[in-house]
Amino acid sequence: MKKLIGPFTQILTLSGLATKGPLNDGQLEVITAGGMLIENGLILQTGRFDRLHAAHPDVKVEEVTGENVLLPGFIDCHTHLCFAGNRAKDYSLRIQGETYLEIAKAGGGIWDSVTQTRQADDATLVQLLQQRVARHFSEGVTTIEVKSGYGLDLPNELKQLRAIQTVAKDSAADLVATCLAAHLRPKDFNGSSAAYLEHIVQHLLPLVKREGLASRVDIFIEQSAFSSAEALPYLLKAKAMGFQLTVHADQFTTGGLQTAIEAGAVSADHLEASTSNEITLLKDSETVAVVLPGASLGLGMQYAPARKLLDAGACLAIASDWNPGSAPMGDLLMQAAVMSAAEKISAAEVFAGLCFRAASALNLKDRGIIAPGMQADIQAYPCADYREILYHQGKMKPQTVWKSGQNSHKNIPD
Ligand code: NIG
Ligand code: FE
Repeated sequence: MKKLIGPFTQILTLSGLATKGPLNDGQLEVITAGGMLIENGLILQTGRFDRLHAAHPDVKVEEVTGENVLLPGFIDCHTHLCFAGNRAKDYSLRIQGETYLEIAKAGGGIWDSVTQTRQADDATLVQLLQQRVARHFSEGVTTIEVKSGYGLDLPNELKQLRAIQTVAKDSAADLVATCLAAHLRPKDFNGSSAAYLEHIVQHLLPLVKREGLASRVDIFIEQSAFSSAEALPYLLKAKAMGFQLTVHADQFTTGGLQTAIEAGAVSADHLEASTSNEITLLKDSETVAVVLPGASLGLGMQYAPARKLLDAGACLAIASDWNPGSAPMGDLLMQAAVMSAAEKISAAEVFAGLCFRAASALNLKDRGIIAPGMQADIQAYPCADYREILYHQGKMKPQTVWKSGQNSHKNIPD
């Protein structure tokens, strides 16, 4: 059935923009007094509301009242939402001056979340994930990538991935699962890091594949996790099994990004430590650069060089990295807005990074732009000009979020 939604004060379509490199706000297509015609969850047409209404007089109208700006739904292409417990203790130590790596060495860090997540039963994990997905969706995030990586043994990695699959079945947002069993060599694994990775290849990835639990594989390349030399064969084996690749790269030290590019990863994420050498490698590749301002805010570290990456011609996506350790806030729009002020990233670049460039990081071609044939995943903000959204630095939230054309979330009553 067809439906016409509107009128919208502005529709920011994000269509016609380059997939890589810098963008300026003058390039943005803005439809004023707009409407959107939807059929079977897909966008059929956008244009002036009154003209669409006149051309389709019998179509059902979902009326939108007041001032509002319509955008594509956000795509959060990097999260660790499936965890139990919290790391408030780590955070308290960090704001007293200890570093993330010192805390990890002393027994906190990722291993602490592994312990807490292993202790949670299936139902608890599902419920915690459902709550976080619902919050994210209410904040305009209509597609959410979710990683495992707090199980780090066969039963617990499978427990996490199955929880993601369960939540995905009836969540308002689309979930994209990624296997991050290579987050850290588990302390209770009896063998080297390379042996652990081989164990994952031999025993976990075939099950993940067979059950359709994830189509993507991630690894944390860092001095405290896996080296590039260990990671490259792992990534190539996962690729040969048909997994798409993504890498936690250059968070504290360089090396990971180069390995990600060598392995043909779809995205390389973090990049806070990347220098001009790494940026040069990236610009000539098809790998999407995913920056995670929430981790910089959570760790009190510098942002990834987002401006330099864009100016060099990279495809830059922005994700939340929502996790219990480095990025506990989980507010994607606020993080992107705050980073954009510091790094001088235009609204066009921010929204591209949260929408269609983030879709590229997940290899999704059917969302992130308001154009005919795309998923009708959209969100409306209570303002008259799209520039007000970043101006409020994330405090302004969408009043309505639609998934596949369904009005699934309203932050204000009818
Ligand atoms: O992306 N850097 C590695 N992994 C996560 C942090 C996970 C944690 O601290 O629990 C990240 O920042
Ligand atoms: Fe992460």
